[in-house]
Amino acid sequence: MEFQKVTPAIVESLIGIAGKEYVLTDMDSLKHYGHDETEDLNFPPQVVIKPRTAEEISKVLKICNDEHIPLTPRGAGTGLSGGALPVFGGIVLSMERFNKILNIDERNLQATVEPGVINQVFQETVMEKGLFYPPDPASKGSCFLGGNVAERAGGPKAVKYGVTKDYVLNLEVVLPTGEIIWTGANVLKNSTGYNLTQLITGSEGTLGIITKIVFRLIPLPKHNLLMLAPFFSAIKACEAVSAIFRAGITPSAMEFLERDAIDWALKYVDTSAISQQLLAVSHKKEIQAHLIIEVDGNDPDVLMKECEQIMEVLQQFECDEILFAESQEQKNALWKMRRSVAEAVKTHSVYKEEDTVVPRAELPVLLAGVKEIGRKYGFQSVCYGHAGDGNLHVNIIKNNLSDEDWKVKLPQGIREIFELCVKLGGTISGEHGIGWVQKDYMDIAFTEKSRSLQKQIKSVFDPNGILNPGKIWL
Ligand code: LAC
Ligand code: ZN
Repeated sequence: MEFQKVTPAIVESLIGIAGKEYVLTDMDSLKHYGHDETEDLNFPPQVVIKPRTAEEISKVLKICNDEHIPLTPRGAGTGLSGGALPVFGGIVLSMERFNKILNIDERNLQATVEPGVINQVFQETVMEKGLFYPPDPASKGSCFLGGNVAERAGGPKAVKYGVTKDYVLNLEVVLPTGEIIWTGANVLKNSTGYNLTQLITGSEGTLGIITKIVFRLIPLPKHNLLMLAPFFSAIKACEAVSAIFRAGITPSAMEFLERDAIDWALKYVDTSAISQQLLAVSHKKEIQAHLIIEVDGNDPDVLMKECEQIMEVLQQFECDEILFAESQEQKNALWKMRRSVAEAVKTHSVYKEEDTVVPRAELPVLLAGVKEIGRKYGFQSVCYGHAGDGNLHVNIIKNNLSDEDWKVKLPQGIREIFELCVKLGGTISGEHGIGWVQKDYMDIAFTEKSRSLQKQIKSVFDPNGILNPGKIWL
């Protein structure tokens, strides 16, 4: 790819568009905007711009398109696949000033937001009106809704309520050539033309810049119950997952944590609000894994019955004593621990995080396969994730692997893991995206024809390949 450098004259034009205060070229800023949460990768851009309107973005993109300058859009920088890394330098376009909830339409159960609104801020705002926006990635306290849409993000609630894509109705998008379009309509059903809304959703900032999002909302369930089930066998814990759904129950969360995941997270977060009893469970030596299971709804009696049914199923898979979080404080503490696993692993060791996903009932085969491949290639893995979705995060720990093996042999091991996923009917990313770090494996997920169709779509939107280059494909 032939790109041009950002010249001082172009920096002046950017200042003319967004204002001096919002165009950064100092080393600290470039370093900061050169990384996201993906491993320890850093690619400082030449310049960072923080526009405020779609029209400003349009002007910036026209310059990039005319001058062949690479531009990388960025939300909060919490991504785990390197989607926001400016791998070719150029311009980072930060969406942090697009931070307004524009409208909550209580008549239609919809909301229009800017992409720089923090997920949790949005959730809490609609909650005050008795409404629910379920997608809740682990980073919900800091990630932006725009990034969630761009990466088709998930989270624990997805198992009952679906992922981000299931809430996106319509998008305002600035195209790489500068035009501003709406992709659809603010309706719950739409069979009008191709579905550009869902094409942009999950396109990882390679087809356009999202500047407004219309979400659908649902009524907020009034009650929930949360339990922690310890298992003597990690494989049996995975087997229990699909059995619960087959028994006719859809939990609102169904998370799996291998022993190390919970141990490391407990060391990393403040556990004072988690009861001693809950903590003691995880300290038992023989426990290999846990399931965190939540049910929600409006009738506490129904929830209690569902929990009893779940417990009956779990007993068949040799679980230890099941414990309930007894207060809101305990529930919060348990979720905080769960949400901190990725960060805890990160502080523990050099690692790589894979986002495997298979049909739910194949989860035990996937877990066994990951461990087998680990033994073959000599790596330790810590697995956890959204078991109810068949979505297993596989954290590969560097430990004593030599730099050479980490660089050369490990990708072959990862390839085997992904091949197993596809063989089981799954694919190579469930909710983190392909971005920069998984693109070498796209041939496992798609045939050449399918990849070529998708690349042609990219060039229809972005003929000069200036928007988030190096991601997903090239
Ligand atoms: C989680 C993130 C890493 O599930 O997806 O914790
Ligand atoms: Zn996850």
